Amino acid sequence: MDTLEAIKNRRSIRQQKSDPIDEATLNKVLEAARWAPSWANVQAWRFVVVRDQNIKAQLDATRGRRPPPPPAPGATPPPPPSAVITAPVTIVVCGELKKAGVRPDGTPSTDKGDSWYMYDAGLATQNLCLAAHALGLGTVILGAFDARKVAEILQVPEGFAPVVMVPLGAPSAPGRPTTRKELSEIVFYDKFGAK
Ligand SMILES: Cc1cc2nc3c(=O)[nH]c(=O)nc-3n(C[C@H](O)[C@H](O)[C@H](O)COP(=O)(O)O)c2cc1C
Repeated sequence: MDTLEAIKNRRSIRQQKSDPIDEATLNKVLEAARWAPSWANVQAWRFVVVRDQNIKAQLDATRGRRPPPPPAPGATPPPPPSAVITAPVTIVVCGELKKAGVRPDGTPSTDKGDSWYMYDAGLATQNLCLAAHALGLGTVILGAFDARKVAEILQVPEGFAPVVMVPLGAPSAPGRPTTRKELSEIVFYDKFGAK
């Protein structure tokens, strides 16, 4: 698949089948993440590949989604189960603290401190999602969860922080149609705000 086409046609896939993903395919996706650029190439990221159904359920519970009410007669059908649970694999992208944007003596290189790990994790995650899409798989980046609970569940050591969860699986429903701001709204020339 052409890169530009992959970038434009990828959508968040929130409903995924439970069909297993073979090792070679999974590794292609992880390989794409591995080759993302990062601050001074420190690669302050780690990927926890979760396949265990029980652990996935625990991860999903950290998202704080309310359980759906019991269906009333004639009510609209309940929402589909979370992709974190149905997808065969959920990848938890973790960042290493005090590495990206930080000099070897521990002082920050910029006013952003070590938060560049979020940026780098984002780049790796986008690579991962695009590679998955090119391979016919669906992903959705999930950031709304209790990261402390996720760290506990996955035994993430001190010095690392869960950043996003990405369920990975064959799409069972297409992504929602979406839009983007027009370039005229977001691109300036020479000075911020200048059109
Ligand atoms: C950092 C980040 C966090 C996100 N967190 C969530 C989330 O918690 N739940 C969710 O349903 N979607 C989440 N999304 C997906 C966005 O809602 C989605 O990318 C956006 O609406 C654009 O849709 P598209 O990905 O289909 O183009 C997140 C995306 C990013 C980049």
